[in-house]
Amino acid sequence: MATAAKPETEPVETIVTDVSETPHPWDVSVSDIYVEDRWQPIFKEMREKAPINKVVGSAYGDYWNVTTYKEIQHIEALPDLYSSAKGITIITDPDNLPDDLNIQLPMFIAMDRPEHTEQRRVIAPAFTPAEMTRMTDEVRGRTAEILDALPIGEKFDWVDRVSIELTTQMLAILFDFPWEDRRKLTEWSDWMGDVESSLTIESRREQLEHVYEAGAYFQRLWDERLEKGEAPDLLSRMIHSEMRNMDQFTFMGNLMLLIVGGNDTTRNSMSGYAYGLEQFPDEREKLEDDPELIPAAVQEIIRWQTPLAHMRRTVTEDHLMFGHEVKEGDAVILWYISGNRDENFFVRPDDIWLERPKPGRHLSFGYGIHRCVGARLAELQLRLLLEEMAKRRLRVNVIGEPTRVSACFVHGYKKMDVELSTY
Ligand code: HEM
Repeated sequence: MATAAKPETEPVETIVTDVSETPHPWDVSVSDIYVEDRWQPIFKEMREKAPINKVVGSAYGDYWNVTTYKEIQHIEALPDLYSSAKGITIITDPDNLPDDLNIQLPMFIAMDRPEHTEQRRVIAPAFTPAEMTRMTDEVRGRTAEILDALPIGEKFDWVDRVSIELTTQMLAILFDFPWEDRRKLTEWSDWMGDVESSLTIESRREQLEHVYEAGAYFQRLWDERLEKGEAPDLLSRMIHSEMRNMDQFTFMGNLMLLIVGGNDTTRNSMSGYAYGLEQFPDEREKLEDDPELIPAAVQEIIRWQTPLAHMRRTVTEDHLMFGHEVKEGDAVILWYISGNRDENFFVRPDDIWLERPKPGRHLSFGYGIHRCVGARLAELQLRLLLEEMAKRRLRVNVIGEPTRVSACFVHGYKKMDVELSTY
């Protein structure tokens, strides 16, 4: 278990940016900077001038920016001082919503010890190395099928035909979800991962309608599986575990967590593979010449893309956080997207560099007790995609600029025109 000393140091001056009347670039909750792909110099400036700073009056209320690698890691190593139980995205004030819309499904990602430990323990056995080996052939087969159906030398949308299809199929396999309805998983996940939905009553209402639809669908599956008895899929596994004793609400919450956790994150690393290597053609050639570099490429792509831009923690007692005076209840935003580009930790942080020493030391999966439980599965899917591409000597060429997701949480792509060639 991760433990660390309280990060109390001598007081330092805090730069506070008030954006209640005038916008300021340091309010990095504004999604425009991600849609327009211009977040890099903003975070660089913060890392240089004020790696920890405070923003007040944003659309999400007041929050602390934490932008550097070591500080993010340190905070994550102190889960009792920095709680997850008040939520893990920047949405800090759902209280402005009417009661019927202020509904938060309980999920173990947003819980503290001991509940977190108990619930994670039920899920974790589905992601052991042995389980990954068991799933490899099926995932490889599905990946091969998808790649073999793609046109060569013709324009198509990589996000839709490869990234979404592969990750959705993976989740459908994991849950033994009805195959013909699998795109519902994508739809639900997109709605649930959309933090901006909480900003207006209309969009929050629409979001909840999708959550309820998902809940009702899984309720039907739950009833069926309960009758069928034990089976290796994750849903059956959950039903026939201690989780069965949880109330339905918590059960559904955790189910949703697995869907959202496993869907657009992995999807966006697959799209990040296409887009990222297009930006670094020499590295792409290196990879094509030497498939042994695939495991390093997987890690580099996940670091460079950082599919989840941030996680939030909430301060549980007043203290000096690296010298800054924080109060109980303060929202602390850990910007992985910035920590993964920290020049004091990484050499050539903005580059995809396949020979990077220790390429797995990135923050994309978080750190400490909440570190992504599905990391191995995500790595497996991406590795198999790269291996199957290499087997066919296929290269993805990105045409023009992709359309990006409008969010400060999920960091990814909506649409990316590409053309395949062979080498
Ligand atoms: C590249 C793909 C992925 C990325 C970047 C990613 C990222 C993350 C991050 C940042 C966290 C929170 C870590 C923290 O708070 O310290 C997390 C937690 C989690 N992820 Fe992932 N994830 C990915 C794939 C998956 C997959 C495939 C699944 C499952 C199907 C999954 C399920 C979860 C769950 C259940 C948690 C909660 C863990 C806990 O609170 O103990 N993730 N993930």
